[in-house]
Amino acid sequence: MKHEVVEKNAWLLGTLIAIVISAGGLVEIVPLYFQNSVIKPAPGIKPYTPLELEGRDIYVREGCYLCHTQMVRPLQAETERYGHYSLAGESVYDHPFLFGSKRIGPDLARVGGKYSDEWHRIHLTNPRDVVPESNMPAFWWLGKDKLDGKDITRKMQVLRELGVPYTDAQIAAAPAEVAGHTELDAVIAYLQSLRYHGAKGDK
Ligand code: HEC
Repeated sequence: MKHEVVEKNAWLLGTLIAIVISAGGLVEIVPLYFQNSVIKPAPGIKPYTPLELEGRDIYVREGCYLCHTQMVRPLQAETERYGHYSLAGESVYDHPFLFGSKRIGPDLARVGGKYSDEWHRIHLTNPRDVVPESNMPAFWWLGKDKLDGKDITRKMQVLRELGVPYTDAQIAAAPAEVAGHTELDAVIAYLQSLRYHGAKGDK
């Protein structure tokens, strides 16, 4: 009988639906703020080195994330192809996240160590030289442009403000570490850093 009141009153029904959905949302969302597996860095994760960081920025600039995800989902087909599914704690130093949503090319979250630096060098300069059927664009200019290390100090300071634990010494040494390297070196260093960082033995 009481239910009839609710069913006949759209506003009351709407309000009650909103309350129920909010409760459901809170039950899912609030624990995420306290779960260690979500808020603590994964055991093997380290902040990006200056060269990897520069490579990550070039990855963003060139739009690699438009064709490549960095998010292995916990589904058998994915873990068999790419390796361990992605953990929240592996992304704590990522600003911005590069999970991506479109896979024109394969996921890259576990690509580190899969190929040699030389393979990447050839592949990025002209993908068809190593993967004849590839439709990935050639990024031939990366090998020509050199980094001067001018902005890296500021970039690392900003990341430190966002919670990445760079030390003063690391920041001071950064310009010399990146200067003179090509953009290609930096992207390859970044790609090689993309690997599983969870608990050891848990591949
Ligand atoms: C237009 C879409 C597109 C863009 C943009 C793109 N890729 Fe690709 N990428 C592909 C496709 C398709 C493949 C699979 C064929 C191949 O290996 O070349 C691929 C393959 C790769 C692979 C080999 C992955 C594996 O596991 O075999 C790497 C590494 C890679 N891309 C890196 C990059 C980087 C770095 C950038 C940005 C500089 C980039 N890609 C931009 C489409 C793209």
